[in-house]
Amino acid sequence: MSSEGVDKGRRRFLTAVTSVVGGVGAASAALPFVLSLQPSARAQAAGAPVEADVSKLEPGQIMTVEWRGKPVWIVRRTEQNLADLPTLDGALLDPASDNVGQQPEYAKNSVRSIKPEYAVLIGICTHLGCSPTYRPDIAPADLGPEWKGGFFCPCHGSRFDLAGRVFSGVPAPKNLAVPPYYFLSDTRILVGEDGGVA
Ligand code: FES
Repeated sequence: MSSEGVDKGRRRFLTAVTSVVGGVGAASAALPFVLSLQPSARAQAAGAPVEADVSKLEPGQIMTVEWRGKPVWIVRRTEQNLADLPTLDGALLDPASDNVGQQPEYAKNSVRSIKPEYAVLIGICTHLGCSPTYRPDIAPADLGPEWKGGFFCPCHGSRFDLAGRVFSGVPAPKNLAVPPYYFLSDTRILVGEDGGVA
């Protein structure tokens, strides 16, 4: 081999070594970041509480956080929504939340929540586990003139009001579940843990 050929080969080798070293350097620089993410990702999958900032949530809006792999809805109910809730009692299967497994004790009340303004609900239908759709519209054509806003499950037609209470005569047998939660401040909710009523 000519000396030029050797040089070329050596250059190729050096290039290869440099990029491997560069690669290792990049990997170890990224490692602390990856490690720092892992415990919380694992903890969240195992059920660690999740914080929700509701400061930007306007009346009538919904936001979703994920807790234990499930969607948890936070709805900021309007004054009108709250006024409508008691008018629905006669059409509901469990209007007083007597099924104790579906909510913590502090949410066994007429609005199924700690603060009337905010509903916190697990967004999984109690029939076969689809995720219902938020339908805040009043008396839409497909849901009928009595509809005052709530959740509609597209899978088999179950209906829930804005407190997650199931209507009579639909496939779902129970109200939507309320997860444990509490208020860390006026605009921060910790979902997944009981902490007393702030
Ligand atoms: S899963 Fe919702 S109605 Fe069947």
